[in-house]
Amino acid sequence: MIVSPSILAADFNNLDKEMEKVNKSSCEWVHLDVMDGKFVPNTTFDDKLIKELRPISNKVFDVHLMIEEPEKYLDKYYEAGADYVTFHYEACSDISKVLKKVKAENKKIGISIKPGTDVQVLDEYLADLDLILVMSVEPGKGGQKFMPSSIDKIDYLIKQKEKNGYHYLVEVDGGINNETAKLVKEVGCEAVVAGTYLFKNEDFVKATKELGEL
Ligand code: DX5
Ligand code: ZN
Repeated sequence: MIVSPSILAADFNNLDKEMEKVNKSSCEWVHLDVMDGKFVPNTTFDDKLIKELRPISNKVFDVHLMIEEPEKYLDKYYEAGADYVTFHYEACSDISKVLKKVKAENKKIGISIKPGTDVQVLDEYLADLDLILVMSVEPGKGGQKFMPSSIDKIDYLIKQKEKNGYHYLVEVDGGINNETAKLVKEVGCEAVVAGTYLFKNEDFVKATKELGEL
């Protein structure tokens, strides 16, 4: 599985060191959680941090926007060096317009859904998406418990992909550890975000490798 360590759980006073850990581990991606204090109560960082980190890592930058009106800011995140930019279904009023613009520019785009959002709301967009981020906790903070209701959504998305030949990757975010990762892997999940489990682990590199080998 693709592993995307979430730096939300990293030590921000030693971010260079934490990024070194990420860089030398086997993960393909790194997950960057942007919060605006409006879509979710907390505020984290914005495109400026992503721009600072870009030169020091070759990992795929998997940017998760938990912000209102994401359509206004997408360009900034691509310019800062994001590879995938994922916005929330619940935060955007004209998804078709956003997808059309981004696809015309050949950039990779994802949509995320909160635990309370029905997965079928995404049906009309599936053909155009590069990534679908299924939230397995309420967005807004790390260290929460995995919600098993996410499993059926992942299962549905993988089946739709196989049936219709869509190209998106399915990723899950929240409460992922070596046990919950197995549950999502069983239904075909392709990528996992893990914050607390990896950064609070005594052996980041080993734990990352083990998740990746599931
Ligand atoms: C939550 C964030 C997650 C978070 C996951 O809003 O989107 O990416 O960092 O943290 P853990 O792995 O600790 O649940
Ligand atoms: Zn996230």
